[in-house]
Amino acid sequence: MGLLDIIDGYPLLGTAFIGLLAVRENLHGAGLGRDLYTQAETFIRDDLEARVIRLSVVEANPVGGFWKRMGFVPTGEWKPYEVQTVASRLILMEKLICSPAK
Ligand SMILES: CC(C)(COP(=O)(O)OP(=O)(O)OC[C@H]1O[C@@H](n2cnc3c(N)ncnc32)[C@H](O)[C@@H]1OP(=O)(O)O)[C@@H](O)C(=O)NCCC(=O)NCCS
Repeated sequence: MGLLDIIDGYPLLGTAFIGLLAVRENLHGAGLGRDLYTQAETFIRDDLEARVIRLSVVEANPVGGFWKRMGFVPTGEWKPYEVQTVASRLILMEKLICSPAK
């Protein structure tokens, strides 16, 4: 139905990097992306004990709006992205996460 991968400790200890989140196309819009991400955030916070989550989004991909909904903000960093006929930018986004309320 979907997948999400996490690189622990990248680029620094205490940071988790989401490499890819994808939900099967015919299931888009049903809340699965949010569910997958929310469970990943809990795992990153409680099991990996990271306090920052980072990811990069191809600027030409409208999915940046999804990540803003999940609380991510652009850091201002970017890298050129050129694959086959697509020439765009990889925009770095970040979210700071806190311990659960005590
Ligand atoms: C991005 C993706 C994972 C979202 O999954 P989804 O299951 O369709 O998303 P959800 O139904 O959980 O949506 C959660 C919220 O994000 C919003 N949202 C979803 N996709 C969005 C988009 N492309 N732009 C803006 N908002 C979006 C939804 O409207 C919903 O908003 P709400 O807070 O009002 O409920 C899915 O579109 C996908 O697999 N895309 C292709 C792969 C991809 O580009 N992955 C990202 C690479 S890093």
